[in-house]
Amino acid sequence: MKNILVTGGAGFIGSNFVKYMLQNYTYKIINYDKLTYAGNLENLTDIEKHPNYKFIKGDICDKDFVYRTIKESQIDTIINFAAESHVDRSILGAREFVITNILGTQVLLDALKEFKLEKFLQVSTDEVYGSLPENQREIKFSEKTPLKTNSPYSASKAAADLLCNAYEHTFNLPVLITRCSNNYGPYQFPEKLIPLMIAKALDGEKLPVYGDGKNIRDWLYVEDHCSAIATVIHKGKDGEVYNIGGSNEWYNIDIVKLILSKLGKSENQIMYVKDRPGHDRRYAIDSTKIQTELGWIPRYSFENGIEKTISWYIENENWWRKVMSGEYLKYYEKNYSGKII
Ligand code: NAD
Ligand code: DAU
Repeated sequence: MKNILVTGGAGFIGSNFVKYMLQNYTYKIINYDKLTYAGNLENLTDIEKHPNYKFIKGDICDKDFVYRTIKESQIDTIINFAAESHVDRSILGAREFVITNILGTQVLLDALKEFKLEKFLQVSTDEVYGSLPENQREIKFSEKTPLKTNSPYSASKAAADLLCNAYEHTFNLPVLITRCSNNYGPYQFPEKLIPLMIAKALDGEKLPVYGDGKNIRDWLYVEDHCSAIATVIHKGKDGEVYNIGGSNEWYNIDIVKLILSKLGKSENQIMYVKDRPGHDRRYAIDSTKIQTELGWIPRYSFENGIEKTISWYIENENWWRKVMSGEYLKYYEKNYSGKII
């Protein structure tokens, strides 16, 4: 493995991953990203001149350009982060999710076959497993849990996973899949729960909590997701799925209250709004497999990770103010205006 194509490397997790790899390894990293609303080259300014880094603006659905990039940059490994990633946007319109998440992955899998690459890692999600019961905390998602998707986003990610399985099985290709729980940390686009709540709290605005606020998510600091992916690409067995999670379940409302309290803000800022349609109740990952078979462990406690995250958003106000404008404001209006009770 020498030259890695990281697709979606200008997004939240992808940009953290690019930096993680440049800091810890000597591979050449080619960041291939379409720069949708979620892709932001400002996430990468500190490493843009790194000798082992190159950015290429491109769409994973554009077969000719993907193939040209693979040839010209002598790519031997693909790690596919590129996706439409926000559940609420998939409810407002699923088409882009089907195109990028499914057809884009198919283009990359064809490239893997065509160029006989060494490795392909599909960055998937725990959402492909559906929802868990709230009151049976002993039940978690394992790699054997059947896929049962509930949102257009998760359906598109599951379809991509199934394509990965099919290409691995039919063509005997070196494909790996990781399924991670909810990430948080620097550079997360402020449409997702934690950065949205931090920004709204700092601005003294209302914090929109869906339904009763008792949905549960299992939060992992983004750098721990990056180290898990690096572990899987180095030590994972072809054809296998690896779940990644922090064993860190929180009710949404408790996260929101924690953010308000850390910022010294009042809980009066909380505004319960109409629930997300089809809202999954609980996610929880069993990451025994990656821990015991590959020796990965998360480094960050939630206390440490959330402190770092809140501090980053306080110190990088310009970053989030800039992205919370233009198209973002239209999206916000469309998603939230009908939800106010
Ligand atoms: P993000 O929305 O922040 O970033 C997605 C990136 O993909 C952006 O830079 C965007 O420009 C790029 N992109 C979108 N369509 C593209 C296309 N057609 N061609 C090339 N680039 C394209 O997403 P994220 O939160 O960083 O998630 C990254 C990946 O990790 C996704 O595949 C997501 O499903 C998965 N994942 C996310 C989480 C999470 O909590 N955020 C958890 C588990 C898995
Ligand atoms: O589990 C992994 C998934 O986590 C990833 O695959 C997705 O890409 C990522 O977006 C995330 O999905 P969620 O839907 O869990 O994340 P989100 O931040 O949108 O919402 C987290 C929880 O907070 C969820 O129960 C909905 C709730 N929520 C969210 C928003 C944006 C609110 O109550 N209010 C909000 O305004």
